[in-house]
Amino acid sequence: KKLMVLDVDCGCDDAQAIMLALTRPNVQVLGITCVAGNVGVDQVCRNALRVLKVFGRLDVPVFRGADVPILGNHVDARYWHGQDGMGDVPDPDPPGMELVQSEHAVTALLRLSKEHPGEITLVAVAPLTNLALAVRMDPEFPARLKELVIMGGNINARGRVTPTAEFNFAYDSEAAHMVLHSFTCPVTDLPYEICRFSAHCGISWDEWDKIMAIPTERGKFHASILAKGVAREKAQKVFSDFYHSCDPFALMVAARPDIVLESEDVYATVELRGEVTRGQMVCDYRGIWKKEPNIRIVKKVDMQAAKQMFWDAFQ
Ligand code: BDR
Ligand code: CA
Repeated sequence: KKLMVLDVDCGCDDAQAIMLALTRPNVQVLGITCVAGNVGVDQVCRNALRVLKVFGRLDVPVFRGADVPILGNHVDARYWHGQDGMGDVPDPDPPGMELVQSEHAVTALLRLSKEHPGEITLVAVAPLTNLALAVRMDPEFPARLKELVIMGGNINARGRVTPTAEFNFAYDSEAAHMVLHSFTCPVTDLPYEICRFSAHCGISWDEWDKIMAIPTERGKFHASILAKGVAREKAQKVFSDFYHSCDPFALMVAARPDIVLESEDVYATVELRGEVTRGQMVCDYRGIWKKEPNIRIVKKVDMQAAKQMFWDAFQ
């Protein structure tokens, strides 16, 4: 089995990524490390536990990590994911916070990487604060990972938080910079434009409505936390006529690398000082800086396989 650790700031799409990980037969989730992002880190832990409970997997350890970005400037995404980060659906029987491990997420990342050297696929679908702290505490950490798969950054300067910055990289730009420049293991990145604005990563509303209607307990829970966001996107047609999401696709890429149909190796960095472009990922496609590629960018995924993975998760 593929050993995975998921680093999340559990909003609705992080929840989808967790659900997919728990239901892939070839994946074993060693732990979920939580970080502030979409909501505060305690709420992230609560949301992760809630997903685990619905899937009967409270045996998966949840670790609390950084509560602010490296520079401490916290701006969340509750406007998008709801006040609780997961669509504000009341939880009649919330799992107790005593289930959160006492070990810090960063310490857990270091420990797990030592227990399973060369074996862990780290899937980071959140601001990269925990990863940056881990590499500062132990520069050998990335070399002990099998690979890192990130959802974050952008390839054509299309942003969300600012006109040019994607949320995870905007929220903690220093951390994103540190990770891109210090992770020596293979790094695969699923950028914002591919998730959000690409015809290759969209699901028709007809097909998505069918997935939202899967009548299992898991399916209903998934549909309930997504309901508001889906209604909003359908009404506004903000992005396109398709359903789009971010984090679950990163998980799919990690679990089933064969679903990547097109990718590009490139040297990328993060703008930290730009007057209007802070947090933007900058890719040297033409090799102008003559640097070795540091990431592989996913450009196209097999949507048939992706849709099937959603079905598998909820049926
Ligand atoms: C990313 O930002 C967050 O709101 C989502 O969970 C996703 O990880 C997309 O920009
Ligand atoms: Ca996320």
